[in-house]
Amino acid sequence: MVRKTKVIAVANQKGGVGKTTTVVNLAAALSLMRRTVLVIDLDPQANATTGLGFTPQEGISIYPALIGAEAVADMIQPTPYENLNIIPSEVNLSGCEIEIARRDDHLSVVKNVIEQIREADVFDYILLDCPPSLGILMASSLAAADGILIPMQAEYYALEGLGVMKGLVERLRASGVNPELEINGILMTMVDFRTKLSTDVVQEVKDHFGDKVFETMIPRNVRTSEAPSFGQPVVFYDPSSRGAEAYKIFAKEFLRRNPTRMSEEKTGE
Ligand SMILES: Nc1ncnc2c1ncn2[C@@H]1O[C@H](COP(=O)(O)OP(=O)(O)OP(=O)(O)O)[C@@H](O)[C@H]1O
Ligand SMILES: [Mg+2]
Repeated sequence: MVRKTKVIAVANQKGGVGKTTTVVNLAAALSLMRRTVLVIDLDPQANATTGLGFTPQEGISIYPALIGAEAVADMIQPTPYENLNIIPSEVNLSGCEIEIARRDDHLSVVKNVIEQIREADVFDYILLDCPPSLGILMASSLAAADGILIPMQAEYYALEGLGVMKGLVERLRASGVNPELEINGILMTMVDFRTKLSTDVVQEVKDHFGDKVFETMIPRNVRTSEAPSFGQPVVFYDPSSRGAEAYKIFAKEFLRRNPTRMSEEKTGE
């Protein structure tokens, strides 16, 4: 049987490649298709939190749940959007790495918390916004995930980072920490279809990773970069912009690749 809640870590140790933009807009587009989505912001920068219109608050985040001070269910916050919820981030999360690193079970902290949410069986998808570093928070997010979605900017050095991510996934699988972890897909972001560099990089990534690369690509789009300053996903901020359209098409492709029991029942799209 297909497990109902699918947990996807959106990760790439390279900074500024479109992880948060992808989390926020994939979540928004899935919610429009009547999927119930939980975003967990695991980055102390809190960009997914503010990008979904939520002001970070001390004590309301994944942090108290990770250290066992609060029940994770109490940390789930509604957003202004139907079907879309968030566990926000807060600055204290940056200290969390050191605190957790001391524990023997440091790779399972995120997993333990997420298992409690899975048990409640409320969400179709849980999307984890990972920080741009190879620290404990990223590693334990990958340990908790069914799949990893790697956003990749179509630029010259993009492939270097990808090798690192692939190695990390292989280690987590081989060590038994998460034997089922799969690279769910690679999403090309900020693609400029007019430049040869962009199209060359896309081709190179496809040569290496074949059908792991999502067919949909996200174009570079000014509205997409403006939307976070209004605390909104571009999917809601300017639904007809090229960025919003691309993320909505991507969400459909994502659903085809990641069906859940709910996906089979709901045919909203
Ligand atoms: N399709 C796009 N078109 C134009 N700008 C974009 C697009 N996607 C993301 N951006 C912009 O690029 C910057 C980096 O994006 P984002 O914050 O999503 O990356 P990130 O990988 O989460 O970064 P970090 O590693 O710091 O967490 C942001 O300013 C964002 O608004
Ligand atoms: Mg980010």
